[in-house]
Amino acid sequence: MSRKHVAVLISGRGSNMAALIEAAKDKNYPAEIVLVVSNRPDAGGLLVAQADGIATEVVDHLKFGKDRAAFERALQAALAKHRIDIVCLAGFMRLLTADFVNQWQNRLLNIHPALLPAFKGLDTHKRALEAGVKIHGATVHFVVAEMDSGPVIAQGAVSVRDDDTEAALSLRVLGVEHRIYPLALKLVAEGRVRVMDGRCLIDGVPVPDSAQLVPAAD
Ligand code: GAR
Repeated sequence: MSRKHVAVLISGRGSNMAALIEAAKDKNYPAEIVLVVSNRPDAGGLLVAQADGIATEVVDHLKFGKDRAAFERALQAALAKHRIDIVCLAGFMRLLTADFVNQWQNRLLNIHPALLPAFKGLDTHKRALEAGVKIHGATVHFVVAEMDSGPVIAQGAVSVRDDDTEAALSLRVLGVEHRIYPLALKLVAEGRVRVMDGRCLIDGVPVPDSAQLVPAAD
C-alpha cells in the first residue's frame, strides 16, 4: 500500500498536527505526514514537527503584503516540492482563495471547533456557551471557497455542562478534535469518502457510525 503524502498547514501550537503525526507513526496508517507549513515563523508547532524529523516550511503571509495570489503561489510551490496528495488545515488562520481551494478539491481538509453548520467563524466555544446549547463539538470537513462550509467528513460531540467555562469546554472539544482528525484523514486517504450533492458518503452511506463520536451519557 502506498501511503498518501500529507502536508499539515498550521499557524500556532499545532496540537491537531501532533495528533495527525502520532496517528501516522503507525505503518498501517494510510497517510504519511511529510511536510508542515506555517504562515507564522514563530508557530510552536514547527518545533514539534521538527522534533519528529518532519520537513517544515514557513510561508510568511506578511512578506506578501496584500498579494494573496503570490502567497498562495509560494504555498503551492512548497506543496509541489514535497509531492503532496492531501492537505490538512489544522488551526491555519488564513482564508484561502477559491482558486487555491478549487485546485485541491476534495483533497483539502479543515478542522473547525464546532458542530458545523453551527458556529462558523471565531470564538466558537464562547458563542456556544452564550447560546446555551447542550451539545457542542468539532467537525472535519472538505474545504470549499465559502468559509467553514463544505462537506462534513466526521464530527465529534461533547456534552455542555451547566458550570462550563470557555477554557474547560474548549479543552474537552480539543480532545475530540484529536480523535476525529486522524479518523477523517484515514477515511480520505483510504479513498472511502465520496462527495455527492455537497455531502460526504463514506463507504457509500451518508453518515456511518465510524464518522461520529457522540458524548458519553454523563
Ligand atoms: C483548533 O481548536 C482548531 O479547531 C481551531 O484552532 C485550534 C488550533 O489548535 N481552528 C479554527 O478555529 C479554524 N477556524 P492547534 O494549533 O492546537 O491544532
